[in-house]
Amino acid sequence: MQKEIYFAAGCFWGAEHFFKQIDGVTLTQVGFANGHTDNPTYQEVYTDTTGHAETVRIQYDPLRVSLSFLLQMYFKAVDPTSLNQQGEDRGTRYRTGIYYVDPDDLPFINLAMAEEAPKYGLPLCVEVLPLQCFFRAEEYHQDYLVKNPDGYCHLPVALFEYAHNNHDTALQHKSQQYELVLKQFAALAQGESDRLALMANAAALIHETFHFWWTGFYRVVGDELVLGPFQGPVACMHIGYGKGVCGTAWKENRTLLVPDVEAFPGHIACSAASRSEIVAPVHNGNQVVAVLDIDSQHLATFDACDRHYLEAFVRLLP
Ligand code: SME
Repeated sequence: MQKEIYFAAGCFWGAEHFFKQIDGVTLTQVGFANGHTDNPTYQEVYTDTTGHAETVRIQYDPLRVSLSFLLQMYFKAVDPTSLNQQGEDRGTRYRTGIYYVDPDDLPFINLAMAEEAPKYGLPLCVEVLPLQCFFRAEEYHQDYLVKNPDGYCHLPVALFEYAHNNHDTALQHKSQQYELVLKQFAALAQGESDRLALMANAAALIHETFHFWWTGFYRVVGDELVLGPFQGPVACMHIGYGKGVCGTAWKENRTLLVPDVEAFPGHIACSAASRSEIVAPVHNGNQVVAVLDIDSQHLATFDACDRHYLEAFVRLLP
């Protein structure tokens, strides 16, 4: 599984070299993003009239590195309060920007921006926008600092070592735990046809392993969701179609990641302690028959890694 994010972080020579050091980044490319001309050359972008920003395309394995970790690294490599200038490079082409292709990434980016802003006491200039376009730059710009080890770079060399030596150990540990718990559940599910019994053990297994705030199921009963087996504090018993995170995941028939429940319109607060949530639909054929709902007391607990493994988990239910 691969995900993508695009970072404008000043001169793309140093920026690419920085991001490619990070464990879990599987591909980087440099190019020009979110301008208003097609297939621009470097010389055209250099005139600063094309609207393009020098940008690094980053492909990553979300089971090894999370978007939140990449965003933390991004903020190590930019001055987010500097408008159209990074280091000595000036111009709109050197602006800072986070351009996303997956709309589900936006709440994570907003959260990272909100966490970063108080450190500066100044408004952040980093643009947060959907990626509108990306044109790969000429070949000699790709991996520029590998091809030209003494080439110009606006970033200090120590930053490359920092990116190389820091791993998203929390995420990598979580992936290992999921691998194990998935094996355990596969063994439990073997030959068992009672969905409710397996839901009960699924909730117990996940809850015991990760110590989330609340782990459980809501079953589709008629036109609503009704509380099923769970671990954690008492919870709401009925949720309407399209209501709350659970009812929306049912209606949209997809996993919802909610890094900040307060930012989710219509979130149903069964417990005031819950701050982030993931809800994955459970299927029988094409039919949604239940949802797996997990709540955390911390912001942004769940990411693409949880989605990957929890979707694998619910696929094991009969
Ligand atoms: N927060 C959920 C309701 C269920 S509780 O989290 C257990 C929602 O908005 O659907």
